[in-house]
Amino acid sequence: MVNVHIDPAFDDEQRRQRIFAGDVIVYTNVPEVAEFAAFTRGLITDVMAPDEPIRVHESRSPEELAELLIDFKPKFIHHPESIAHVRRVARALGASPDALYADVPKLRTAFPAGGLSTGIAYAFQAHRDTWYGGPTQQVNWWLPVWPAAANNVMEFYPHWFGNAIENNSGEYNYYQANIWRSQIKSFSGGKDVRVHPAPVRPFGDDEPRLCLVPPVGGVMLFSGDQLHASIPNTSEVTRYSIDFRTVHIADVRSGRGAPGVDVACTGTALRDFHRLSDNAELSEEDVAPYDTEGAEGVKIYGPG
Ligand SMILES: [Fe+2]
Repeated sequence: MVNVHIDPAFDDEQRRQRIFAGDVIVYTNVPEVAEFAAFTRGLITDVMAPDEPIRVHESRSPEELAELLIDFKPKFIHHPESIAHVRRVARALGASPDALYADVPKLRTAFPAGGLSTGIAYAFQAHRDTWYGGPTQQVNWWLPVWPAAANNVMEFYPHWFGNAIENNSGEYNYYQANIWRSQIKSFSGGKDVRVHPAPVRPFGDDEPRLCLVPPVGGVMLFSGDQLHASIPNTSEVTRYSIDFRTVHIADVRSGRGAPGVDVACTGTALRDFHRLSDNAELSEEDVAPYDTEGAEGVKIYGPG
C-alpha cells in the first residue's frame, strides 16, 4: 500500500520513515522550490533563446537538441547556485544540512513523443534507482520547472514497492556506467546500448499506476526503491524537471532504508553524495558496507 501525503507536518525523521515504508510525499507550495524552478527557467530560457523552451522541439532537430543539452546539462548540474538551491530546499523542509548528503541535481528533459529520447534525454523505462546503484537509504526529490501534466510526467507502480519483480539489474555495474556517462554523446542518437535495468517482462495496460503532478513551486519526495518510469510525453510541450537524491547519515550508518528486495547490481552510488553543509564526502568506512566485493578494479568517477 502506497500512501500519498500532501503538505504533511512530518519532521524529517518521520518523513524518511514513511518514505522507506513506500509512501510518497508532496509539498505543493514551497518558496525555496519555486526559486529553484525560476532560476532554472532563467538558465534554460537564455540557452534556448530566441526559442520558447517548451516548444523548442518545433524549431530544432533532435541532433541540435542533443548537442545543446550535452553542453548545457553539465553546466546546470555543476552551477554553484544549483547545489545552493538544493541546500535551501532541504532546509526549508526541515532537513539538517549537517546530516544530509546530496548528489548534484539533474535536469531532465522529456520531448514530445517522436523526439529525442536517447542518451542525454533518455526516457527512463520502469526501474528502481536502487537497480542503478542507489542505496536503499536514498530519497528522491522531483520538481517541475514549467507546469507539468499527467501526460508528460512520471509514474509509480505502487504494487511493486517491497515486492520482488524479475529484472536485469544484475547486469548493471555502477562503475562501468560512470565510464558511459563520460561518453554520453555516443548514446544520444539512434543507438543507446547502455544497460538500463528494467523488469524482464513489460507491464500490461492493467498494471496499477500512480501519477502525481506537483505544481511549479511544489516537490515530490519518494524512495529510490520505488518502481517508477518516465511517461512517454504525449503532450505538445517539452517537460523540464529537476531531480536530486539525498541520504541521511544516520540511515547510512544504521542501515535503515527501503526494502530493496530485488536489487542485484554491482557497486554503489554513495560516493556521489556530499554533505550539504560543507560538501564533505562520506568516509570510505561509511561507504564500505554498501560496496560490492570485487568491484574495486573498475572504480571510475565521471562528471556526474
Ligand atoms: Fe529514477
